[in-house]
Amino acid sequence: MILKRLFQSTIGKKIMMAVTGVLLFGFVIIHMLGNWQVFSGAEALNDYAHLIKSKAFVLWGFRLALLGIVGLHLWAAITLTLANKAAAPEKYAESKALGSTWASRSMTLSGVIVLGFIVFHILHFTVRSVPGSPEYFQQNEKGHHDVYAMVVHAFQNPIIVGIYVIGVGILSLHLSHGLQSMFRSLGLSDRRYLPLQINFARIFAGFIFVGMSAVPLAIFFQLKQF
Ligand code: HEM
Repeated sequence: MILKRLFQSTIGKKIMMAVTGVLLFGFVIIHMLGNWQVFSGAEALNDYAHLIKSKAFVLWGFRLALLGIVGLHLWAAITLTLANKAAAPEKYAESKALGSTWASRSMTLSGVIVLGFIVFHILHFTVRSVPGSPEYFQQNEKGHHDVYAMVVHAFQNPIIVGIYVIGVGILSLHLSHGLQSMFRSLGLSDRRYLPLQINFARIFAGFIFVGMSAVPLAIFFQLKQF
C-alpha cells in the first residue's frame, strides 16, 4: 500500500526524488573526500581505491545500489515533469514571469548534462575506453591499478580538465536547486526559513564545485608536485 502510494502519487514521487537526491548527494560528498586523497600522494589514493575495489560483492553491491538510486531519481523526475506539463502547460509561462531562477527552469537540462558527464566519466576512468595512454592501465609496485598515475596523466589535458570543471559546475547548479526543491517537497519550506535554505543550498553546492574541481585544476596548474 505504502509502496503503491510512493510510486503512484505526486507526493510519493516527490519524496522519492528528495530521498534519492540526498543519497546521491551523500555519494558525491564521499567521492569528493576520496578524490582528495590525490593530495596525499600516490600511495594514499591507490590504497584507498584498492580498498574500495578489493571485495567484488561489496563493489558490485554498491554499484547496483547506485544504479538503482539513479534510476529511481530519473524515473521520478521524468514522470513528475510529464505530469506537470500535462496538468498545466500554461503554468510554465507564469512561473517564468514570476521570476523563477535560471537554475529552476533548467533543472531538466542540467540533469541531462550531468547524466552525460557521468557516462563520460565512467567510460573515462572505470571502463577506460576514452582514447588515452598506457598510464590508464599501469600497475603500481603492489600490483594494484595505479589510479594516481591515471588521474594525474588525465588532467594534463586541458580539454579533459575543461570537461570535468564544466561537468561538476553544472552538477553544482543542479544540486543547488535540487536542495531547495527538496525542502519544499519534504514540507520543510516556511517563508521565514526560505532565505536560510537558499543560502545553505548555494553554499553547499559551491563547496562541492570548489572541492571537486580542485583536483583537475590543482593537477593541471601544478599547484603542488604531483
Ligand atoms: C573532478 C571530479 C572527479 C574526479 C577527479 C573523479 C575521479 C574518479 C576516479 C579516479 C574514479 C575511478 C576510481 C577507480 O578506478 O578506482 C571515479 C569513478 C567514479 N566516479 Fe568520479 N570523479 C569526479 C567526479 C565525479 C562526479 C561528479 C560523479 C557523480 C556525480 C562521479 C561518479 C563516479 C562514479 C559513479 C564512478 C564509478 C565507480 C565504480 O567504479 O563503480 N565522479 N571517479
